[in-house]
Amino acid sequence: MTSPFYSLGIETSCDETAVALLDGETDVIASLVYSQAQIHAPYGGVVPEIASRDHLRKLPVLVRDLLGQSGRSLLDLSLVAATFGPGLVGPLLVGLSYGKGVAFGLELPFIGVNHLEGHLFAHRLSYPEVFPPFMALIVSGGHTLLVKVTAFGTYQTIGETVDDAAGEELDKVGKLLGIAYPAGAEIDRLAAQGDPTAIAFPRPLSDSPGFDFSFSGLKTAVLYYLKRHARERREDVAASFLASVVDVLTQKALAATRRHRLDRLVVVGGVAANQHLRTRLTGDGAARGIEVLFPEQRYCTDNAAMIAAAGAFHHIARGETSPLSLAAVPSLHL
Ligand code: KG4
Ligand code: ZN
Repeated sequence: MTSPFYSLGIETSCDETAVALLDGETDVIASLVYSQAQIHAPYGGVVPEIASRDHLRKLPVLVRDLLGQSGRSLLDLSLVAATFGPGLVGPLLVGLSYGKGVAFGLELPFIGVNHLEGHLFAHRLSYPEVFPPFMALIVSGGHTLLVKVTAFGTYQTIGETVDDAAGEELDKVGKLLGIAYPAGAEIDRLAAQGDPTAIAFPRPLSDSPGFDFSFSGLKTAVLYYLKRHARERREDVAASFLASVVDVLTQKALAATRRHRLDRLVVVGGVAANQHLRTRLTGDGAARGIEVLFPEQRYCTDNAAMIAAAGAFHHIARGETSPLSLAAVPSLHL
């Protein structure tokens, strides 16, 4: 495609208000992410009503800034893509309604995007030349799943968490360690100064044959450990806990890649920003002949460039659009 095809991406499924302008299927013109984390930090997690109200306040301003920075106007747009699930229903409704309104007003095609598929397209933004098949590990605050990607748009979930998501677990253990929400990045930093072998936390389901994950028992183990050892170095607790999460994710993801006779693993979602996970998976993967790819860090955590990319793929390559009657689906599956 030679002439520009600009897609406006909108993401409001949780506590990031994000907008992006994409040209074609992979060329990011601009991407803005506004995090509400500070607003929710005193509550230790996202408060849905506060999140909805803040998206409503911030979204139009971000779109104006996005177009201003890009030197483009609404009239240059060709497509509007917005997340319609999974996520919190109130926050989803804000971005979805806004996106539909823009598309209707400008008589443009509209496409609803599955947030989980959006995370997969973060990979495409960083590696536009790398195509499926590959195994994908989607690891975020809301989800932990292993997906066999035979083609973009064709997914088979082969394992997922039976309780908490890995990022949710990092946030909960962070709270136990007195770290503000979201705690993932700070645990990453603390762990770098600690001893990962200091405490032998469990590796849940690591010896079980399937590809499902379970993390909630690990959080309980940390809770009881901290009750008995109140004076333990936080760095060592963070390092030992993170080592357990990284061990389980590495073991399952590489085993799944092998089992399905694939030689490439793609890791996406907020937890894919984790340095320990990146180093370990890359090293262990190479030792087993598996290439492990992570998106750039800014596309790991929630953003709208990945939403625009998934929407543009479905529209440009597949000719799809969504009806303006499309509903928000909080528990949408891949
Ligand atoms: O993908 P994401 O932005 O939102 C969801 O779709 O859930 O992921 C957010 C999660 C949070 O749990 C956060 O603590 C975690 O990603 N996270 C990290 C890092 N940066 C964000 N976890 C580990 N290490 C990081 N550097
Ligand atoms: Zn996400």
